[in-house]
Amino acid sequence: MTSSRPPLVQLSNVRIDRGGRTILRDVSLQVPRGSITAVLGPSGSGKSTLLAALTGELRAVSGSVQLFGQDIPHGNRALLEMRKNVGVLLQGNGLLTDLSVADNVALPLRAHTRLPEAVLHRLVQMKLHAVGLLAAADAWPRELSGGMARRVALARALALDPPLMIYDEPLTGLDPIASGVIMSLIQRLNDSLGLTSIIVSHHVHETLPISDQAVVIANGGIVFSGTPDALQASQDPLVRQFLHGEPDGPIPFDAPTRNYGLENA
Ligand SMILES: Nc1ncnc2c1ncn2[C@@H]1O[C@H](COP(=O)(O)OP(=O)(O)OP(=O)(O)O)[C@@H](O)[C@H]1O
Ligand SMILES: [Mg+2]
Repeated sequence: MTSSRPPLVQLSNVRIDRGGRTILRDVSLQVPRGSITAVLGPSGSGKSTLLAALTGELRAVSGSVQLFGQDIPHGNRALLEMRKNVGVLLQGNGLLTDLSVADNVALPLRAHTRLPEAVLHRLVQMKLHAVGLLAAADAWPRELSGGMARRVALARALALDPPLMIYDEPLTGLDPIASGVIMSLIQRLNDSLGLTSIIVSHHVHETLPISDQAVVIANGGIVFSGTPDALQASQDPLVRQFLHGEPDGPIPFDAPTRNYGLENA
């Protein structure tokens, strides 16, 4: 994973506000090419907020966010171009229920390319094969198990061959077996396709084994950054509270939110 080229993602002293409140401050992070980075932290700590800053959906109030060695562009067109290079698996799968599995995977290709239908069909088959679901091409999303639906969403995120993949809670709602399948798939795709991956999760024990580096977000910023081994060995009370799921400690249980119950809907 080492490389003399600049990191694929670089955040320096970033502050991100949402709803008039500072959610993250002084965030600095480097994601080396080819690596898998775990972004861990309790619910509501700002993990999805951080991802939204990487896709340009949210703008940093201060500091710099660079992808592929460049600042996130401001113009709509340039932003769209940049986003083609970022595959996103959102929290929830976001499959369209009235489209077949194959048509769901084809969506980004139809939106961003003008490939002939035969080529498009072949590409969709390749993506479905990559996630082990070629046989489900003609199925409807409602016919899929949770784990299969997640893999279809993964195939769709890969459709445009983005060099950077971002996964927001890829294990939500999956049983341990399906979780293992998704995690090994993420690792295999990262290695075989030469991707760089960022995985946001609170599933520490499933995410760390495939990660090269880990950051923990809590109390409005990064409270740990280092290797998975260093994280496991950390004696920081905040990190330990999160890792071991203890209710009492430096992370307050009733994190300050306004409009409680509506914001994450
Ligand atoms: N659209 C929004 N407007 C205002 N505040 C928001 C919005 N979305 C999230 N927030 C707030 O930002 C904070 C961080 O939310 P975020 O969704 O980034 O957390 P998270 O770490 O991804 O949590 P989870 O693990 O539950 O997904 C929370 O306090 C939340 O209430
Ligand atoms: Mg989230």
